[in-house]
Amino acid sequence: TPALNIALLGGGTVGSQVARILTEDADALTQRIGAKLQLTGIFVRNPQATRDYQLPAEYYSDDIDEVMADADIVIELMGGVDPARELILKAIGQGSNVVTGNKALLATHGNELYEAAAQAGVQLSFEAAVAGAIPILRPLRDSLSGDRVTRIMGIVNGTTNYILDQMDTTGASFNDALAEAQRLGYAEADPTADVGGDDAAAKAAILAHLAFHAPFTLDQVYTEGITQITDLDHKAAASAGYIIKLLAIAEQLDDPAGVVLRVHPTLLPRQHPLAAVRGAYNAVFVEAENAGELMFYGPGAGGAPTASAVMGDVMSIAKRKLRGGPGRTHTARRELDSLEIGETTTRY
Ligand code: HSE
Repeated sequence: TPALNIALLGGGTVGSQVARILTEDADALTQRIGAKLQLTGIFVRNPQATRDYQLPAEYYSDDIDEVMADADIVIELMGGVDPARELILKAIGQGSNVVTGNKALLATHGNELYEAAAQAGVQLSFEAAVAGAIPILRPLRDSLSGDRVTRIMGIVNGTTNYILDQMDTTGASFNDALAEAQRLGYAEADPTADVGGDDAAAKAAILAHLAFHAPFTLDQVYTEGITQITDLDHKAAASAGYIIKLLAIAEQLDDPAGVVLRVHPTLLPRQHPLAAVRGAYNAVFVEAENAGELMFYGPGAGGAPTASAVMGDVMSIAKRKLRGGPGRTHTARRELDSLEIGETTTRY
């Protein structure tokens, strides 16, 4: 059986779950693609630390060159801009394909990375960067690429949805709900990115990039978090038939403003489909000219759900790599057809 070498950067909440799946599901994955996904090493700052899912000590290393050598696929799950940016560029530079869940990095330095990957002829995949387990990026990039998306409204931060939901339903305090979200592994290492709205803003920029076919960055997103929302706000909203949700909104306006991106607490009618999204679940509501309204729903944060999206990207790259790349093009045949059919039917 052929093998593909997988290097994992990061041994935190998501990294641990990816290590678990690669280990425990190894046989099933091998059977599915006809090749072994060989985890060759895990780059961590402290190799001695204990992990959510612990592999034998020899897997962990703080030597990046050792971990990344001969990697067919590098999975970056360290989070943060530095040193993740530099390490991804290094992986691309050595010809490895890259899978990342790093929304903060993509929303600030995405273009640099996409261009580097395109130039090197390697794949850079990041389904896990937005809305955890929910397949949303591939549908936007592929399934809807022949349509015209007009608006996206998303609950894309599990921590804040969990906090708002707890405050609304149980009357929990903001701080208690946040502490519980941290304990459950939903929050970022620095939870100010969650409650301040920046994590949702990064995801809004990534969604808009794919939906509107133009690059957007974090600084283009108007951002307001949930730290000012009080118990009184929830009660007032409820008595008027509304619920408070932190929404990421990207919409194409007809005026010169073009695409407008914003993240802020929003009053939603309690019967709106997004109002039913509870706990750390996420949902992305997409409006497109021809498709109409679509809603994507599922677990938006946490180790195993996010690892599921990472593994989807890994499997998809592995399959392509084993096939030797995408299918052949049909340019020659088309030219021939148009010559034979003649001038009146050359439109395709
Ligand atoms: N901290 C993020 C959240 C993790 O709460 O949604 C998933 O990106």
